[in-house]
Amino acid sequence: MKKERTLAEPFRIKMIEPLRLTTTEYRNEVLQKAGYNPFLLYSHDVYIDLLTDSGTSAMSDHQWSAMMLGDESYAGARSWEKLECEVKDLTGMDYVLPTHQGRAAERILYGLLGDKTKVFISNTHFDTTRANIEFTGAVAIDCMNEELLDMDAELPFKGNMDIEQARQSILKYGKENIGAIILTVTNNSSGGQPVSMENAEQVRDLCHEFGILFVLDGCRIAENSYFIKHREEKFEEKTYRQIAQQMLSLADVFIMSAKKDALVNMGGLLVLRDKYIAEKCTNLLIISEGFATYGGLSGRDMEAIAVGLQEVFDPDYLHYRIKSTEYLGKRLNEKGVPLIRPYGGHAIYIDAKKFYEHIPVHQFPGQALVCDLYEQGGIRCVEVGSVMFGKYDKYGNHIAPKHELVRLAIPRRVYTQSHIDYVIDVFDDIIAMKDKSRGLQIVYEPPFLRHFTAKFERL
Ligand code: F0G
Repeated sequence: MKKERTLAEPFRIKMIEPLRLTTTEYRNEVLQKAGYNPFLLYSHDVYIDLLTDSGTSAMSDHQWSAMMLGDESYAGARSWEKLECEVKDLTGMDYVLPTHQGRAAERILYGLLGDKTKVFISNTHFDTTRANIEFTGAVAIDCMNEELLDMDAELPFKGNMDIEQARQSILKYGKENIGAIILTVTNNSSGGQPVSMENAEQVRDLCHEFGILFVLDGCRIAENSYFIKHREEKFEEKTYRQIAQQMLSLADVFIMSAKKDALVNMGGLLVLRDKYIAEKCTNLLIISEGFATYGGLSGRDMEAIAVGLQEVFDPDYLHYRIKSTEYLGKRLNEKGVPLIRPYGGHAIYIDAKKFYEHIPVHQFPGQALVCDLYEQGGIRCVEVGSVMFGKYDKYGNHIAPKHELVRLAIPRRVYTQSHIDYVIDVFDDIIAMKDKSRGLQIVYEPPFLRHFTAKFERL
């Protein structure tokens, strides 16, 4: 059989950002100072930063040159015209509201739709989505696909919404009390798993049946389109952009953190089909973000998003993007690292409970792995388990979530295959010292979103 060629990047490097190499001793010291919480590290102490794929993309020469054309007029800027035209063409929706990032669009939309009588249904609410909904007094319900519970099951669309569960929730709470149904593609909080077109159509049908608003959170819609083209029947001949357009044609509202698939460092979009809701959202946009034709963005930002939304559907780019994430997953899997499979589009999720069997969940096996990866290799990533989602009951006992995961999120077009090979090599050391790794205890935690600022000690 012919040997498969190396997955070479479909770009070359024109500008470099130096990375600092540090020693294990140095990293031990700074990590201890940061209370064993990598969110509290300075980025100059990090070698490979896999904390998030959000706002961490490298822009192309076309994006940088478009930025020079930025029209910074307060109203009706040329850059706005370009962005509006691009987004209308992609979404087929008439009302485009630019925001400074995804959660600003969420605050506006859910601030309008939510109150304490309302319930929102999603395949899985992302943290900021849930927080913005709950902040209005409304309830956020996850109708996750059961397939997700089996981390090893190689199924094509584990990010799908469980339609029957969603229907039962509508019947239970009453259709007039459902604020919206939100489909997040890909499903970030559930392993970055994709959602099928068939599932999106079922969500659309359910929304039509009960007269409920269908919101598509599509900050990774191009990555999701890749999976549809290669995994779902009848889509092989379609372009990635056509697939995204087809999915968008099903929804009433499109919400996007441009920091992901628009390949920029800052920005968000709230796009609507309905004039009445759009007008109300525009009023909120003007109060909190900025005038309707720039919202939370400068002209140059809008230029970069307009170009990024074109580039992200380039077949060579998307192939490299998905395959490079898969490459990391496959190599770690070969080494026996337990992972969520199939591999997500933007990240690899490690099952830390299985990997560090000797560390009980109340001693945070995920956080231990996050710290070990930093100490051994200068790699920064995030725990998605008891630190992020753990709670206490009224007796102060720790209640653990279902999974103890560690997310290795891959910034777009930033690291080369040799950086990824380096990450894979660091895992050899992690595996060799696995049984010696120690858990942690919390010595400080804030009342909300504790993973950002909590401090720990090694046990
Ligand atoms: N929706 C999803 C599915 C997201 O993944 C994010 C952000 C947001 C909304 C909010 O967008 O950050 O621009 O305000 N996810 C990042 C992450 C932070 O690391 O997964 P934002």
